[in-house]
Amino acid sequence: FQPKLLAGRKVVVTAGPTFEALDPIRGITNHSSGKMGFAIARAAREAGADVVVIAGPVRLATPRGVRRVDVTSARQMLAATEAETPQADVFVATAAVADWRPATESGQKIKKDGSGQPPALSFTENPDILATVARSERAQRGALFCVGFAAESHDLVDNARAKRERKGVPLLVGNIGPSTFGQDDNQLLLVDAQGVVELPRASKLALARQLVAEIARRARPAGT
Ligand code: C5P
Repeated sequence: FQPKLLAGRKVVVTAGPTFEALDPIRGITNHSSGKMGFAIARAAREAGADVVVIAGPVRLATPRGVRRVDVTSARQMLAATEAETPQADVFVATAAVADWRPATESGQKIKKDGSGQPPALSFTENPDILATVARSERAQRGALFCVGFAAESHDLVDNARAKRERKGVPLLVGNIGPSTFGQDDNQLLLVDAQGVVELPRASKLALARQLVAEIARRARPAGT
């Protein structure tokens, strides 16, 4: 009998893009599909965890047995994450959170004013959800195991190492190779205090299952 790796543990996953409104009909977002995060949620559920996926705007079915919280903006994603993580054992941040949001959200559609001049847009920095959670007291003492993702176009190992330090997380996962947006497969690099391990190209679900096993091995055992 093989006990499930994450039985009795709570796992929170952020997934997909965020959408930052400019006016009632426009906003800025990105091409994250949410597939990797949803695959991790599914794999964690298969491993016996109580799983919550906090999803930006994505077109994906909720994995069986997973609780889903839909959000739009980075600030909503942070609020939902801060509501769910105090009871969690693992937090996996896969969401492609918009770094900036429009400084003001117009209550009405922004119209051409006839001057021929485009509107001057200004932006405000969004909260860093992963870094915020990683700074929490439970994460600091290892009760909440935090995992970050990095999508880099070059120098993946160095950038992933630096990002792991900057975010203050024990495990940082790099997406290897060209953009994986919307793709069904991926290739991952796991960077922790011990070094770097590569998970060769496979489906996002197969990689998610391997990653969940790696997380279960590293996270503190239940009840400690
Ligand atoms: O700094 P960068 O955006 O490259 O970091 C990526 C990692 O940080 C991912 O795990 C992503 O989900 C998380 N992140 C976040 N909140 C942000 C920006 C990134 O949680 N505002």
